[in-house]
Amino acid sequence: MSGVATSKLAVAVTLSGGLGQIGFTGSPLGLRAELESAQAQLKDFMATNQNLGVLPVGVGIIVIGSTPERWLPIFAKFKPAVVWLSFGSAQQMQAWTEGIREVASSSKVWIQVGSVNSAIKAAQICQPDALVMQGSDAGGHGHAKGASVMTLVPEVVDALKDHGLSHIPVLAAGGIMDGRGVAAVIALGAEGAVLGTRFIGAEEAAMDSDVREEILAASDGGESTVRSRVFDDIWGTNPWPQLYDGRCLRGAIYNNRENGMDIESVRTQLYRDTERSQVEEVSMRDVACIWTGAGVGLLKKLEPAADIVNQLPEEAD
Ligand SMILES: Cc1cc2nc3c(=O)[nH]c(=O)nc-3n(C[C@H](O)[C@H](O)[C@H](O)COP(=O)(O)O)c2cc1C
Repeated sequence: MSGVATSKLAVAVTLSGGLGQIGFTGSPLGLRAELESAQAQLKDFMATNQNLGVLPVGVGIIVIGSTPERWLPIFAKFKPAVVWLSFGSAQQMQAWTEGIREVASSSKVWIQVGSVNSAIKAAQICQPDALVMQGSDAGGHGHAKGASVMTLVPEVVDALKDHGLSHIPVLAAGGIMDGRGVAAVIALGAEGAVLGTRFIGAEEAAMDSDVREEILAASDGGESTVRSRVFDDIWGTNPWPQLYDGRCLRGAIYNNRENGMDIESVRTQLYRDTERSQVEEVSMRDVACIWTGAGVGLLKKLEPAADIVNQLPEEAD
């Protein structure tokens, strides 16, 4: 969760028994700073768990637009428990996977994809340590033509078996908001669950309070969130390949486009609404792209990350 899951959230999740992830930082310099901070926050934990061989947090990398060279020295230095790769071709992922394994052999490589076809390709070409199967309910970017974890996970589990690749564990992501979701994806064949949107409700998440209020107030995720490319088209040339779109809270940006406004006019309207927001109350969802999953209606309150993590096993049982 780029910008939202900083080292503060990742460390809080790890210290309460999950495996915290630092979202994509956009620059190697940013990642270095986050990992230095994580290292400092985890000093006592590392002192009492000396044989870990890794820094017990993961780091997210958006492969599109990045090349491994500038990031590898950081993985070599900090040895994050997981380098989580998303959004890119299997060939691009292969270059990253091989590079990471060369410089940080104790770090695990997870690859997040959103279709059966891309899962098998990534598994065959990269042999990742885990596949994160991202269903269409997920917040943020994802496969535009994706299916929900309900069908995606079991089909991938079966396909991996058919291809002799069942040694690669599957983790499920997308719409998992509590222990019921965890139990459901385990029943579907996943070995673990990834929660993004739920942690927007963690006190340690980096989030503007106005934006978080919008998210906490939203319910009925199928109505209040929507997948679209407009959330990237709005800023100018869209760097994301057609394969991908993203899920955000529904607001004026999406509604104007859906109602037939051309993208230039949607931009002009956004500019006007942003100006207006300086002098009068304007809903944040009309002037920002608020990346959020379809599970948003199950996110009810702000609480410490530890409380979220601690509830999960009991609820899942
Ligand atoms: C606010 C937000 C930002 C996200 N940013 C990223 C990102 O930078 N890179 C990435 O691979 N996935 C990103 N995701 C998607 C997550 O990796 C994950 O698939 C998703 O959060 C799981 O679904 P859920 O949000 O329903 O729990 C983001 C999700 C959210 C909610």
